[in-house]
Amino acid sequence: MDMDALKRQAAARALEEVRDGMKLGLGTGSTAKHFVELLGEKVRTGLKVVGVPTSEVTRADAIRCGVPLTTLDDIDHLDLTVDGADEIDPALNLIKGGGGALLREKIVAAASDRMIVIADESKWVEVLGRFPLPVEVIPFGLAATRAAMDRAFAQSGASGEMVIRQGKDGHAFVTDGGHWIIDAHLGRIGDAPRLAALLSVIPGVVEHGLFIGLGTSAVLAGAQGIRVVERR
Ligand code: A5P
Repeated sequence: MDMDALKRQAAARALEEVRDGMKLGLGTGSTAKHFVELLGEKVRTGLKVVGVPTSEVTRADAIRCGVPLTTLDDIDHLDLTVDGADEIDPALNLIKGGGGALLREKIVAAASDRMIVIADESKWVEVLGRFPLPVEVIPFGLAATRAAMDRAFAQSGASGEMVIRQGKDGHAFVTDGGHWIIDAHLGRIGDAPRLAALLSVIPGVVEHGLFIGLGTSAVLAGAQGIRVVERR
C-alpha cells in the first residue's frame, strides 16, 4: 500500500470540512503537508481562508502553495486545526512531536475550536507509547529535568530510556523555539492524562507531546478506505 497516497486521502477528507472564511491551524509533518498543498489548490480557485502554521517548515510550504497566513499574535482564536500525529488512541489522545514541532502544534491546537487529526491507519493504537514520547526541554539544568521526568514516569506507571534527539549534524536537534527534545522510549503509557499532568509541572519541561483532549476527530486512511472517528 502506498502510504503517501493514504496520507493524501486523509488530508483530502479533512479538506471537505473547510469553509469559506475559516481561520485554520496548519499542522506539520508529511501528512499535514498534503493538506497544505490541497488547501493551496482550493485557494487558487477562490476559497477564502487564512492559516497559522505550526512550524517554519509549514510556513514555507504554505507560502509556496499560496495559502494566506496570519499569526496568533494578530488573532486569538482559530476555527479548525488539521494536523498529523505519531500515535492516536481510541480516546483521540495523541503522541505528537516526531517532527519536533510539538510546542507550536499544541499552542495552535489549543487555540482552535476543533482539531482534525489526519493519518494513515498505522498511527492508530490501543495504548500510546510504542512511539517514543517527545518532550521539549530547556537545555539548562538538563540532569535535574531528566530526574524529574523519571519520577513522573514512575508515578504514572511507566519507565524507559530517555534519548536527547540529534539533528542531521550530529548535534542536539534544536526546535523552532530554541529548545531541545528528549525522546522517552516508554513502550506503553497506561495513563496518558496522568503522565501529561505530571510532565506539565516540571519547570525544565517546555511542553510534551501528549495531546490530551485536543483532537476532536480523526480521519484515518487505510487499505479498506477512510474512517472518521469522533471524540466521545
Ligand atoms: C510534528 O512535530 C509531528 O507532530 C507530526 O504531526 C507527526 O510527527 C506526524 O507526522 P507525519 O504526518 O509525517 O507522520
